Amino acid sequence: MSQRASVLVVDGHRASRESVSDVLTAKGFTVETAATGAESLDRLRHHAFDAAIVDIKLPDVSGLELLRALRTEAPALEVVFITGYGTPQTAIEAIDGAAFAYLTKPIEMEHLLAVLRRAIERRRLTQALRESEERYRLIAENIRDGIFLVDPDGRVLFANRRAEELSGHSQAELAGRPILSLLAPESLARAEERLAAIRAGQDVPPSFEAELVRKDGTRLWVEAHDTPIVRDDRVVGRLGLVRDVTERKRAEAELARQRDTLYQSEKLAAMGQLLAGVAHELNNPLSVVIGHAAILRSTADTSIAERANRIGQAAERCARIVKNFLALARQRPLEREEVSLNQIVREAVELVAYQLRVDDVDVVQDLAQDLPLLWADSHQFHQVLVNLVANAHQAMRETARPRRLTLRTRAAADRRWITLEVGDTGPGVPTRHRARLFEPFFTTKPAGAGTGLGLALCKGVVEEHSGRIALASGDGPGAVFRIELPVETSEARSPAPPRAAATTRISGRRVLVVDDEPDIVRLFVDILVADGHWVETASDGIEALESLDRSEYDLILCDLRMPKLDGAGFYRELAQRRPELLRRIVFITGDTLTPESTRFLEHVGVPMLTKPLTLDDIHRVTQQVLQAP
Ligand SMILES: Nc1ncnc2c1ncn2[C@@H]1O[C@H](COP(=O)(O)OP(=O)(O)OP(=O)(O)O)[C@@H](O)[C@H]1O
Ligand SMILES: [Mg+2]
Repeated sequence: MSQRASVLVVDGHRASRESVSDVLTAKGFTVETAATGAESLDRLRHHAFDAAIVDIKLPDVSGLELLRALRTEAPALEVVFITGYGTPQTAIEAIDGAAFAYLTKPIEMEHLLAVLRRAIERRRLTQALRESEERYRLIAENIRDGIFLVDPDGRVLFANRRAEELSGHSQAELAGRPILSLLAPESLARAEERLAAIRAGQDVPPSFEAELVRKDGTRLWVEAHDTPIVRDDRVVGRLGLVRDVTERKRAEAELARQRDTLYQSEKLAAMGQLLAGVAHELNNPLSVVIGHAAILRSTADTSIAERANRIGQAAERCARIVKNFLALARQRPLEREEVSLNQIVREAVELVAYQLRVDDVDVVQDLAQDLPLLWADSHQFHQVLVNLVANAHQAMRETARPRRLTLRTRAAADRRWITLEVGDTGPGVPTRHRARLFEPFFTTKPAGAGTGLGLALCKGVVEEHSGRIALASGDGPGAVFRIELPVETSEARSPAPPRAAATTRISGRRVLVVDDEPDIVRLFVDILVADGHWVETASDGIEALESLDRSEYDLILCDLRMPKLDGAGFYRELAQRRPELLRRIVFITGDTLTPESTRFLEHVGVPMLTKPLTLDDIHRVTQQVLQAP
């Protein structure tokens, strides 16, 4: 006790007051004196004493009344009573009034000193205890973790303010409550297993994650740290520290999602290369099968024509798959033009109108009249629609009639976005499939019926046009897919290539076909000659330039990848020598494009024919160029 203890001596008799004061001062106490109750209270207001020695008989007030007044003024003060004629009753009252001791006169000085020292010691212990309690309360109430103290039965003995905030229950509501009753059922099961393991003497990690159900029913993820409280080798309770980890959980989920997306896109990129390689090998032979089947269909007798038709259809189906692969692998540049989404919708529905009728599907085309035009790749959007309509059709085959396919287009009020919805009355998409719907190769259809590329392709195309696609329907029957597309401003656009307007097919023109693949050359010659054109061929760019020196052409179909002088080199030569012919070129592309080729094609904006070639494509593109002024 380094600090000197201070004592107030309250006594009406001056002599005895002073003699006590002298002895205490001599013993090293700091002493002040008071002759009356009022005076003693006044002293107390100006100084914090450790103890008071009070004669119970004072001129102005009874000792017991003074004791009560002292208690109010200085609750921690230790009081020692002294009297000459005390009765046991007074002593009991004094002690009940929380006096430290009660001494009768004559006072044995040594005795008084001993009692005083004990009183001061108690006072200092009480003070230290109070300070320590205050310190812990300060920590407990301000810490960012929830604190729960529970008894051996798991009932809450103490909960801090943060525990109140986390649980939504007041401290009073928490008191006595089984702590496990705050947990969500799944977490409860795990917490009980954990406790069982602890009771069985197993080692368990001190921290675990759990979900709380708050008073308002909302849930909250927390990390709990649980420590046994051991006294005399016995567990007398547990201390739980609880931290809100909602934000961390959210961040973790986000990270996992990003990792997954990255993984998906890497998978797609690797797959894209593989697919593009396969597609490359299939392109030319498929073009040949499709083309010749088409020619055969229009020239042979009916029974052969019918077979040619079937061959053609099967090959076109293969071609569609290959095109899906290529579009998915993003190995093809966008061929943007001004596009009417309504027109694409109508065309796509038209394509499958017959099969839809067979299956009794009503088609509702709710198309906005004033839809702004899109600056988009119409072929890719055509594929998107074909895929969405095919999915809806397949889904509705599983459900009873009536069956309805709804196609709805709308423009946003500011006309900067267009939405397209494709809805059906099929079984809908179960929640468990939602997350994976747009993943490549995710399919619920039997092998042979679906490859799981349709929606992945749709997503790829829509996102490449800076749009979004999502499943807009909830649980339960009926699926609705919604696509939102930005209407790009005209400044961002390059001039639209001319579109074929006339419906009569132009024939009798001179065409130069430049390609190093004899099969493809042969196919073009057959088709174009059947259309009534004059056709000449060249097997590379150099030969083509020689032909141009000799003759005039209305249309030049030119492969991009050729030996000696490739398509791009040929284009540049032409720009030097015969710039007026640049409008007459159509490039034939198909397989993997190098980034340079992609840039080149985007830059020159020349019409393209992409392999595998179909008869329709060839007619459409050649007519487009021939009809241009
Ligand atoms: N309209 C729909 N109604 C219910 N489920 C659908 C619908 N559209 C797609 N799905 C579900 O999404 C899955 C993936 O569709 P996606 O078009 O990507 O592949 P797929 O149709 O299975 O095969 P692919 O289109 O390659 O032939 C389908 O297998 C189906 O489970
Ligand atoms: Mg599909």
